[in-house]
Amino acid sequence: MGTSTSDDAAVYKLSWDSALVLTVDFFPPIVDDPFNFGEISVANSLSDVYAMGGTPLVALNIVGFPSDLDKGILTEILKGGYSKAKEAGVLILGGHTVVDAEPKYGLAVTGTVNPGSQITNAGSKPGDILILTKPIGTGIITTAGKQNKADHYLISEAIKIMSRLNKSASEAMTRIGVNACSDITGFGLLGHLREMAEGAKLDSEISVSNVPIIEGVMELIDRGIAPGGTLRNLESLEGHVSWEEGMSENSKILMSDAQTSGGLLISVPESRAADLIQELEKNGEHQSKAIGTMVERSEEMVSIKVNS
Ligand code: CO
Ligand code: CO
Ligand code: CO
Repeated sequence: MGTSTSDDAAVYKLSWDSALVLTVDFFPPIVDDPFNFGEISVANSLSDVYAMGGTPLVALNIVGFPSDLDKGILTEILKGGYSKAKEAGVLILGGHTVVDAEPKYGLAVTGTVNPGSQITNAGSKPGDILILTKPIGTGIITTAGKQNKADHYLISEAIKIMSRLNKSASEAMTRIGVNACSDITGFGLLGHLREMAEGAKLDSEISVSNVPIIEGVMELIDRGIAPGGTLRNLESLEGHVSWEEGMSENSKILMSDAQTSGGLLISVPESRAADLIQELEKNGEHQSKAIGTMVERSEEMVSIKVNS
């Protein structure tokens, strides 16, 4: 028996052929509709298990709710959560609620993985192709939504993306066999890529033009919308990212955008990249794209090169 942790989930080995995967996540509402919020939060909580190539089995609700707010809202949040868990084949067995100034919802999740076959975020090899399975920009859209500056279509597009499970993407990658994976959440695409590169002691190169982006997001950034977390992400990349000359500030903001329930960033040997894309397509992951490569470390410090 033993334990090991990565950024995504903790793994606890029970025997030679079984290990538990444990993770917990919860946060305040990022969209107005309580049912949608429940769905998104559950998809997000399960994502860390999927990123490790595990199978989530059971979960417990974690709830914070104000005493003076209509209990019907809480019912809707939980209904959204249950329906998403059901879609994933996960049983919610119970949970705990505390009085809180602001609603919060999420799950503590338990899943399984074959010991030794879990996919970490540190296993990349030089020459690996990087594949991202969901478009980015949800942080900017939900922030615009809170300011009433995003149109309905864009918000419902972001909700669709955030509430989509990473289950079929995870199944595709375990079937093909990959070197590393992380799900894209609060640190944004470049923040999570930096962790992957640091974990593998490699550098990375990506092209902005290959990154899947939700249509209409750039217009919101042009109108001055950027979440605080996204700007902090961009700031913390300083010294680790070399931007192609002439890269616009707005492109930099987009590449740093803090995501909720983002896609999987998968590092796959070049010889299997086309097969993985095909498998993802077959599983309905139509927005997956190859965005760059992992390369040998050139200096002591990690460096991510971002081309236009
Ligand atoms: Co994660
Ligand atoms: Co997490
Ligand atoms: Co209790």
